Parts: sequence; C-alpha cells; structure tokens
Amino acid sequence: MTAVYPGSFDPVTYGHLDIIRRASVFTDRLIVAVLTNSAKSSFFSVEERLDMLSAATDGMEGVVVRSFSGLTVDFCRSVGSNLIVRGLRAVTDFESEFQMALTNRELAGEVDTIFISTSTKYLFLSSSIVREIALYGGDVSAMVTPGVAERLTRRFKG
Ligand code: PNS
Repeated sequence: MTAVYPGSFDPVTYGHLDIIRRASVFTDRLIVAVLTNSAKSSFFSVEERLDMLSAATDGMEGVVVRSFSGLTVDFCRSVGSNLIVRGLRAVTDFESEFQMALTNRELAGEVDTIFISTSTKYLFLSSSIVREIALYGGDVSAMVTPGVAERLTRRFKG
C-alpha cells in the first residue's frame, strides 16, 4: 500500500521523522510530499526542504521524498494512493486536521486520512518553534537533525 504524508516541512523536525518512521512500518511505500505552492510563505526553498528531507530519511526503507503543487488528493491520485497520513500532537491540532481530512474526502471519496499520534517527547515541537529558537541562537539539536540545525545556523548568520 502506498501512502502520502503531505506537509510544508519547513524544516523537517524529529517530530516529522517520528511520524515517517511509524507510518513506514505499515506502508509499502510512503511518499513524503512537500507542498510547493502553499498559501503560507516558506522560510526554506522547496529545494532546500527536499534536500533536508532526503538526507534525514536516507536509508529508511520504502520512504521517498517528492514535491507537489495543487491539491493533495490530486497528488494522491497521480501516484495511485488512497491514503493520507498526518501526525497529531495535542487536541489543538485536531480541529484543523479533521476539517482537512473531511475536505479531502469530499474532494475524493476514495482517499482516507489516518492520524498517527506523535511521541510525547515531541508534543511541543513544530517547525515554527524550531525556526524561532534558531533565530535567537538557541539550541535546536534535540529537535532537528544536525544537517537541518547547520542550515538554520547558516541562514540566521547570513
Ligand atoms: O505541514 P502543514 O503546513 O501543516 O501541511 C499542510 C498541507 C500541505 C497538508 C495542506 O495545506 C494541503 O494539503 N495543501 C494542499 C492544498 C489542498 O489539498 N487543500 C485542500 C485540503 S485542506
């Protein structure tokens, strides 16, 4: 079974990698899909986000990294998948995630969304928190891979 894990991954965190690892256990192919035309303006370019994700998932069996534009359900159809994976942290994620899942089902009845709960140690973690900590020179080594931490440092020094 092929599943799609869509997101901004701006940048990928250990929280995302936890979801990827858990989802890859029960999928044959997990496509980690980076949205290129988000309404949100991104901090890292699509190429940088793809690079960081590819490096971070290197060696994970069945995990591939792709970019997409447009609707997630159209991307799912284009790769022959009818399963979207999303991670859930606290209950605050639930409302928007549930709305997204129902919207996607409205758009494509054959596509379902499954939620994977994050490890408790990553409950607080988000890409925006990581960017903010890095901006003020804080230590993000428990939140992102060394490669991502290095890119953040470089960006903020520049
Ligand atoms: O990491 P994010 O920013 O929470 O990911 C959000 C994402 C990319 C999954 C969501 O914005 C999305 O699916 N965008 C594509 C446009 C789309 O399909 N919209 C309809 C569903 S709400």
